[in-house]
Formats: sequence, C-alpha cells, structure tokens
Amino acid sequence: QAGLLAKELGYKVYAVGGFVRDILLARPNLDIDLVVEGDGIRFAHALSQARQGRVKEHQKFKTAVVVFPDGQRIDVATARLEYYEYPTALPTVELSSIKMDLYRRDFSINALALNLSPGHFGQLMDFFGSQRDIKEKTIRVLHSLSFVEDPTRILRAVRFEQRFNFRIDGQTLRLIKNAVQLNLFSRLSGARIAHELQLILDEENVLECLSRLQDLKLLAAIHPQLHLDADRTRVLMELRKVHDWYRLLYLEPPVNTWKLYMLGLTMGAERDSLELVCRRLRFSDRELREFLALRDLLGESLARLMTWAETQSSMSDIYFALDPLPVEGVLFLMARSRREIMRKNISQYLTRLRTQELLIDGSDLKIMGLKNGPNFARVLRKVRAAAIDGAAVTRDKQVELAK
Ligand code: CTP
Repeated sequence: QAGLLAKELGYKVYAVGGFVRDILLARPNLDIDLVVEGDGIRFAHALSQARQGRVKEHQKFKTAVVVFPDGQRIDVATARLEYYEYPTALPTVELSSIKMDLYRRDFSINALALNLSPGHFGQLMDFFGSQRDIKEKTIRVLHSLSFVEDPTRILRAVRFEQRFNFRIDGQTLRLIKNAVQLNLFSRLSGARIAHELQLILDEENVLECLSRLQDLKLLAAIHPQLHLDADRTRVLMELRKVHDWYRLLYLEPPVNTWKLYMLGLTMGAERDSLELVCRRLRFSDRELREFLALRDLLGESLARLMTWAETQSSMSDIYFALDPLPVEGVLFLMARSRREIMRKNISQYLTRLRTQELLIDGSDLKIMGLKNGPNFARVLRKVRAAAIDGAAVTRDKQVELAK
C-alpha cells in the first residue's frame, strides 16, 4: 500500500535501517522506518489518511511520524537529491537520493533499503556490502568520518556488536580508538550520551556491553568516575539477576532500569564525583537531588542491615530497614549483599512483607481514643512489627496490642 500511495504522488518509497537488517537476521522488529524519494511529509499524510492515522511533522528535518489507531508507528524521512562534490576537479556526481541517504547512516548493517515501489517491490538495495557484513557478522562504518560526524555511533557499535554477537571490524575499531584519543565524547551533549547509555542498559547483554565499553576505555571517556573495578563488576552482574528476577515476577512498581544500573555504575564514588557524573549525564536538578538522596538513604539502610546481620534479630528489622527505599534501592542492596541469608530476606521483603496489610487501621485507633499524630505512627509500627514477627497475626491480637 505504501508503494502504491507513493507512486500516485510520483515518489518512490523504501523501508530502511534496522527493520530491513532484522528481516535478514530473522529477528522481530516492529519499528518501521520509511524513506521517500519525494516529499516525505506529504507522503506521511497520504499514508495516514489511508488508514485513519495521525501525523506528527518535523518540518525542519522533513520527517514525520504516522501513528495508527492500533498504536503502530511508522517513521517517514525524506531523501533529498543531493550532489556529491569530490574534493578534486572531478565532475559533480548525482547519486540517487536513496543511496545518499543510506551512505549517511551509521553502519553497513543498517544501510540496506527494501524497495516498496510497485514493479520493484521487495528488491533489496545493497550499495555498501551490507549483506556480506551481516553474513560475516561484522559491524563496519561506511566512511572514516562517521564517528566524527556523530560520536554516539561508537556506543551504538558496541550495542549492536553485543546484541547480535557480531565483531566490530578492524578499521572501525581503529577509528573508535582514535575517537577516544581525540576525546570526541567531550563534544557530545550529556543528554545524548545518557540516551545511548539507557539503550545499552535495556539490552539483554547489558553486562557484555558494559565490559566491552570498559575494555575500549569508553566508560572512562564518558566520565573517569564510571570505570568498572572488580567490586562494581560483581555488583552489576548481580544487578542483572535481581533486575530480571523482579521483572519476571511482575512485581509493582516497575523498576527503573536506568536508576538501578546507575547505582551500580557509580558504587563507591564520593558524593562530589557522583554529582559530577550526574551533571555530565544531564540529570535535571530534581533527578540529581533524588539520586543523591537515594544514596544517603542507602547508606542508612545498609547500616541497619549490617546490624541485623550481626544480631540476626527479627524480620521486622529488615522491613523497617528497607521500607524508606524505592524499589531500585532495595534491589541494589539485594545485589550488593554477599550473604545468601540477606538476599533471601530482602526477596521476602519484596515479595511478601512489603505488601502485607495490617488487620487494623487508623479508624480502629480512633475508636480506641487515640489522636492522629506521632503516636498513631508509633502504635501502627509496633503492630506491624508484631505482625511480621508472628506475634500478632489475628485481628484480635493486633487490636489488643494497639491498646
Ligand atoms: N542511524 C544512524 N546514526 C545514528 C542513529 C541512527 O545512522 N546515530 C540510522 C541507522 O541506519 C538506523 C536508523 O537510523 O538503522 C534508525 O535508528 P534507530 O531506530 O536508533 O536504530 P535501529 O537500527 O532500528 O536500532 P534498534 O534495533 O536498537 O531499534
């Protein structure tokens, strides 16, 4: 349908990028990117009208997103016919605009186009050896200035390499090392780095990605404080396990992967350095305040857990040690802990204690003549401790205790 619509407008349309790559790799990918030889925005409107969608335009970049009623989104870009000037006196060559569009992309594996135009439907346009690189499992840039144009591509190279179990090709690797030496990352905005890091942290192979980033000195290039030592590596490995465990159980609230891994990546950093890392990654003032506060809370909770570990007192102590923390903090302490018993207790807290309801509430206390205030909280805390520790599991017992 897209091809026919384009033809009616006198355009050609192609599916490009990750969508085509993933077809060849037989991996699911629902993010469709189209490139139009013609007016991409006009085409987007035609496409949206045909299937009752909505269009969000970006006039400046001549791109648009079409969102359909079932939630599907299609990105549409315009390939402009451009003239490629050779530096010498050779004549200016007109390249087909789809070829130019593909040439500007990051890696050969992402530079394939699938022709959707009637008469050529399904024709694969491979100008840069993309199929060969996919077959040979190679990540390769299309030209030597690729990382200079956009240093975030360095992080993308590692992400794709680890995701597909490919290898970054030799020349591309040299360009990466060069880029590190030239400190190209310093030119990048924190927001763009943070975005790429977030994508990495969402990958299934997050640890392999992080350790490759470390080997290539890329973490230190983002900020020297982000280097991985043995302690951080161990905790990050555990973080992945507890993160996946928590998600598999569909526990609420959902965990913020970014916040969780940032705790691991910055573990042990002094407060001042931590602040610098966060600022480099463009945390807003509020995010920074919250992150620093979380670190302080973690320190307090950790101290209480250590006391518990020495005395092995009651489970309610675990509850009150963890209760002030958001879920990311609790998972972090679980990952950080070396003792099996402690990990087990923390998992008990997350799966059971945390949501255990008391059998009495504020209205019961009011009936008993208690006034709302600090007393209220103190009594409820006492009842909760008894409920958790098995001393007051019936309503009668809890009422009695409250009195
Ligand atoms: N692209 C690029 N340079 C970048 C980012 C993107 O050249 N810094 C191009 C690539 O051709 C990529 C396409 O834009 O295939 C779409 O980008 P994105 O959606 O981020 O990449 P995908 O390849 O679809 O990656 P993913 O599978 O992670 O969604």
